[in-house]
Amino acid sequence: MTTDIDTVAIVGCGLIGSGWAIVYANAGLAVRLYDADPQGVVRARDMIAHELAEMAKLGLCGDPEPVVARITGCDDLSEAVGMADYVQESVRETVEAKTKVCAEIDACLPDHAILGSSSSGIPASDFTRDMKSRTRCFIVHPVNPPHLIPLVEIVPAPWSDPALIAPLRTFLERVGQTPILVEREIEGFVLNRLQGALLNEAFALFDEGYASAADIDLAVSHGLGTRWSFMGPFETIDLNAPQGIADYAARLAPLYTALAASRGMTAHWSDDAVGRATAERRAALSLDDLGRRSAWRNARLMDLAARRRRESDPDSVRG
Ligand SMILES: NC(=O)c1ccc[n+]([C@@H]2O[C@H](COP(=O)([O-])OP(=O)(O)OC[C@H]3O[C@@H](n4cnc5c(N)ncnc54)[C@H](O)[C@@H]3O)[C@@H](O)[C@H]2O)c1
Repeated sequence: MTTDIDTVAIVGCGLIGSGWAIVYANAGLAVRLYDADPQGVVRARDMIAHELAEMAKLGLCGDPEPVVARITGCDDLSEAVGMADYVQESVRETVEAKTKVCAEIDACLPDHAILGSSSSGIPASDFTRDMKSRTRCFIVHPVNPPHLIPLVEIVPAPWSDPALIAPLRTFLERVGQTPILVEREIEGFVLNRLQGALLNEAFALFDEGYASAADIDLAVSHGLGTRWSFMGPFETIDLNAPQGIADYAARLAPLYTALAASRGMTAHWSDDAVGRATAERRAALSLDDLGRRSAWRNARLMDLAARRRRESDPDSVRG
């Protein structure tokens, strides 16, 4: 069925809706824009044209003209949604706003269409409960800007039809996104819970006077974030001990447990959790291949270091 998605409606054309329009139109789909503020579509068109022109310079899209030509502004919501195979809701982040707009979408959503909400952290069950189409509603949470950072979180509500998850994932892959599945609802989903953990600790260290905001930023931009641009925390620690993630946990779980306790939190480095994470990592990469993967990591880091030096990035040195 995802191969049947030809037309996408974007409801709410601010920062995120405009970025989504680029993603879908650049993938060859017809895009119908609607915003409650009539100026919203005008602003979106300007932003889309600018971004496509910049992307074209770097080869991230072809000629912007046919991409822009696939985007149609609509004067009312039903004009956009009524012809859509997929709807991307992108209005502001309150339960009230999302409940109201989803009720409007529900009234004209075609019987076969799926609704994805860009919600950053409010679960779909908070605003789709009373919709007749609620089995076809999911969170489809992007990262800003969605046309440049392709990660997207699919989060089903308890009543979302599980049979639609695979086709939704396939559809998002088809338009160039990298979907992850959050198996069940949790406020903030995965991405913003990870970001929240880091931000909370950054604020705490800053507030308690351990380091300036600028130095904490450097710890991420020139430290942790350098690896994180191409690998996640589990793979990172898998490569940071000779015998992989289990070895890392044996050495450092006590430290992380103490750090969590110092903030009044419970650490989750139980033998069971470490065992399951180890099993997943070893299924992806054997212990024998750790060295090869570490060499790959170092090659990526060398590439990044060379690029920074070549471009003599003014942000790459302390100002
Ligand atoms: N900005 C981010 O970094 C980011 C990242 C990921 C997800 N999100 C989520 O995406 C959603 C949109 O965020 P944004 O940053 O684009 O907000 P925004 O304020 O830039 O845009 C919201 C748009 O929705 C329009 N709108 C409001 N009510 C409407 C209605 N009933 N019908 C149609 N249009 C309506 C507004 O006029 C505005 O143009 C939110 O849920 C937000 O949490 C934001």
